[in-house]
Amino acid sequence: MGIKKYQDRIIYQVYPKSFKDANGDGIGDLRGVISKLDYLKDLGINTLWLNPIFVSPQVDNGYDVSNYYALDEKMGTLRDFDELVKNAHKLGIDVILDFVVNHTSDQHPWFKDALANPDSLYRDYYIWQKGRHDALPNNWGSFFGGSVWEKDPQDEDSYYFHLFDKRMPDLNWRNPEVRRSMIDIAKFWIDHGVDGFRLDAFIHIAKADFAQNMPSHGKKGPQVAEMFFANLPLVQTYLHEFIHNLREYKADLFILGEAASADIDLAVDYTDPKKELCDTVVTFRYFENDQSKLNPALPAFGQPLPLRIDIFKDTMVSWQKRLQGISYPTLYLNNHDLPRILTKVAKNSAHKKAAAKMLATLMYLQRGLACVYYGEEIGMEAAVLDKIEDFEDQQATAFYHEALKAGLAKEEALKMLSESHKMASRTPMQWNHAEYYGFSATKPWKYGKENGVNVADEQADPSSILNYYRQVLHLKQKPLFIEGNFVLEDTSDDLYVYTRMLNDSIAYIICNLCDKTVKYQVKGSLSDKHIVLQNGNLSLDEDNVLTLAPFSSLVFMTE
Ligand code: NOJ
Repeated sequence: MGIKKYQDRIIYQVYPKSFKDANGDGIGDLRGVISKLDYLKDLGINTLWLNPIFVSPQVDNGYDVSNYYALDEKMGTLRDFDELVKNAHKLGIDVILDFVVNHTSDQHPWFKDALANPDSLYRDYYIWQKGRHDALPNNWGSFFGGSVWEKDPQDEDSYYFHLFDKRMPDLNWRNPEVRRSMIDIAKFWIDHGVDGFRLDAFIHIAKADFAQNMPSHGKKGPQVAEMFFANLPLVQTYLHEFIHNLREYKADLFILGEAASADIDLAVDYTDPKKELCDTVVTFRYFENDQSKLNPALPAFGQPLPLRIDIFKDTMVSWQKRLQGISYPTLYLNNHDLPRILTKVAKNSAHKKAAAKMLATLMYLQRGLACVYYGEEIGMEAAVLDKIEDFEDQQATAFYHEALKAGLAKEEALKMLSESHKMASRTPMQWNHAEYYGFSATKPWKYGKENGVNVADEQADPSSILNYYRQVLHLKQKPLFIEGNFVLEDTSDDLYVYTRMLNDSIAYIICNLCDKTVKYQVKGSLSDKHIVLQNGNLSLDEDNVLTLAPFSSLVFMTE
């Protein structure tokens, strides 16, 4: 059973390595996911997005694929996958796969052959350049640190291009054979029942002229050169060909594009149905850090910073309003590339529960596709990782050494990293009180000090975050919260207040974003409205002034 309209989707993101380990090797797997489908159904989701599950050396936790046609053996078998899809479909849950289109692993047979043999048919599957007078082809920097160029070990004069780790060479989308191969792979998985794809890093599949250096303005070393490798016009040409072919094969295929740096203008382009590209895109621009709070004695990378609420509001409202009549934005609070937001927003443990509920109210009742990251529905936070190796990141290691040199204790440096680094949001799902939280019988592949919340406790507690999420996601299924018009009220940055309106129904959503008590003058009469969700202490006086305790929220509506 498929979802009729993409805007009805309520997505749950599973990081498969960390969701549920069924075979006891400390790494989550597909049988583990199968065993939790009823839990997901009960939560109220209808679409399951799995982070990469293909064969991979795991340099980047599966985003380095060495065989797109088979599952990583730690994940399970193709038969397990088919069973997962079948069982999910029985419950009315669609399955979407993370499809890595920009690069492969250096262990992929295409790359191995391209390296081994200059005349290989696969040489042109990748991007090669000659060095300039024994120097790198240009000064462009990789997202994972260092240059985007790595020497071809077989040919001292040549370099290959990698936007991420050097063990993840970029594919050459100029080559029609590459484009054809990617379509073939997608069709294979459609044949296995998948309902859509999350397109990883698709905004990078076209690159500009390599002769142009990035202006460095006096800074040393390679420079991240997004203007030359992100969102170029050719991306849309390649993407259209790809999607058009796939939609001819499966008309209602759902496409969620990862467009990390896309602004709203690009989001309009990428999701305008006339262009036949993505249904929706995820931007990372909702969540900007307050750089003014940086400690100048430490490197910027690795410092936990508060959110810029002003930017968050401006960005949210523009994505809400500009996409109206075009597409539906993706609504999310967390993902595997970000530190968990609850740790950032609420510092005082007494506020955590209210803050988790408030954030869900604020985000998911807006216009768009809710996308819940595993564990946020129980209030999981950034785990504190206690070894620098756990971050698997050269930039994190550099921060750590600088921090120690600057006089920080190891624990302090690791805590800072844990609060700011993506790796601390990828720890095991906390199912119950057992050792390793019921995730596995063995020590998990990634493990840190967690905040102790768990599913079993929250299932038994009517006032839990989990039960509140169920209510929010239940409301989200109403036409008012899918199609209703969105209007953000102009309030102080301590508050986030909006209405959703459809025909005669109207909902008011009032959220206190801060750790102080805030007052809000409710507009109009409340006599014809009723409260549908209440979180935290709130009181209303006879003049309709609402007093909201820290991080509390309220939803009331007519109807
Ligand atoms: C975006 C993914 O979300 C991230 O985790 C990954 O490292 C890069 N793309 C490279 O595939």
